[in-house]
Amino acid sequence: MSTPVQKLFDLSGQTALVTGGSRGLGLQIAEALGEAGAKIFLTSRKAADLEEAAAHLQARGIDARWVAADMSQPAEVERVASEALQRLGDIDILVNNAGATWGAPAEDYPLEAWDKVMNLNIRSIFLMSQQVGKRSMIPRKRGRIINIASIAGLSGSGDVEFIAYGTSKGAVVNFTRTLAGEWGEHGITVNALAPGFFPSKMTKGTIERFGADRMAQAAPLRRIGDDDDLKGAALLFASAAGKHITGQILAVDGGVSAVHHGG
Ligand SMILES: NC(=O)c1ccc[n+]([C@@H]2O[C@H](COP(=O)([O-])OP(=O)(O)OC[C@H]3O[C@@H](n4cnc5c(N)ncnc54)[C@H](OP(=O)(O)O)[C@@H]3O)[C@@H](O)[C@H]2O)c1
Repeated sequence: MSTPVQKLFDLSGQTALVTGGSRGLGLQIAEALGEAGAKIFLTSRKAADLEEAAAHLQARGIDARWVAADMSQPAEVERVASEALQRLGDIDILVNNAGATWGAPAEDYPLEAWDKVMNLNIRSIFLMSQQVGKRSMIPRKRGRIINIASIAGLSGSGDVEFIAYGTSKGAVVNFTRTLAGEWGEHGITVNALAPGFFPSKMTKGTIERFGADRMAQAAPLRRIGDDDDLKGAALLFASAAGKHITGQILAVDGGVSAVHHGG
């Protein structure tokens, strides 16, 4: 007996923890999962932004709560997991999205910047997956983990000068495959989205420097990402529609990575 496709994509009764969910791509993904029926728990550092994001989701009929925390601190990761488990009961879907970047030439890249980027972009994903896996997903033999990588983790990026960022996102890609191999037996899928260029606070400076039009011209589809473009892919990985998919990296980038020759 097959299942109607609407049911496959339905997240009613499920719960999702979204890190870096106060704005940008994390909020877009939270919106998608919430609109599909999941209860949402957001985290990021600034309480005021989280309050606003939760109100935005609630206005769309979504059950949304939050806690403020710095994901680059291991104790804070544990606190978020505890709070989310207390408020949601269990965590069915974990979206590891919080991330940051730092621009400097590799030869002069400050060690503090390297540590800051690596501790947030890859170490916190490891720690949060460990917390949620051990405390909620492995015992129940089910779970969906979605890591937010980047097309900057699939190849080099020319002369962009963000060595730690590119390194961290490459690590997210193989972390995803490695964990998928290990936790498949627990009924947990682990996949990654590799976004191309989306306007957000993180990319504001780049857009101002190069212009959205020029960024769009680099993509076969001649566009950059918008407020809807990650929703479908996130829901596929989060729902029963994706139950036979694990260890995969899906670029959502207007085709940039399909034609990129490293230049
Ligand atoms: N935009 C793009 O074109 C693009 C492309 C590829 C990949 N990505 C990835 O997508 C993810 C989201 O990026 P975005 O573009 O939406 O950027 P963004 O608008 O800057 O959002 C980043 C989110 O992470 C939170 N955050 C930052 N540092 C944190 C910390 N130490 N602890 C906890 N939360 C923290 C931010 O809130 P607070 O500052 O309040 O903590 C915010 O909620 C990142 O992993 C990024 O690398 C983005």
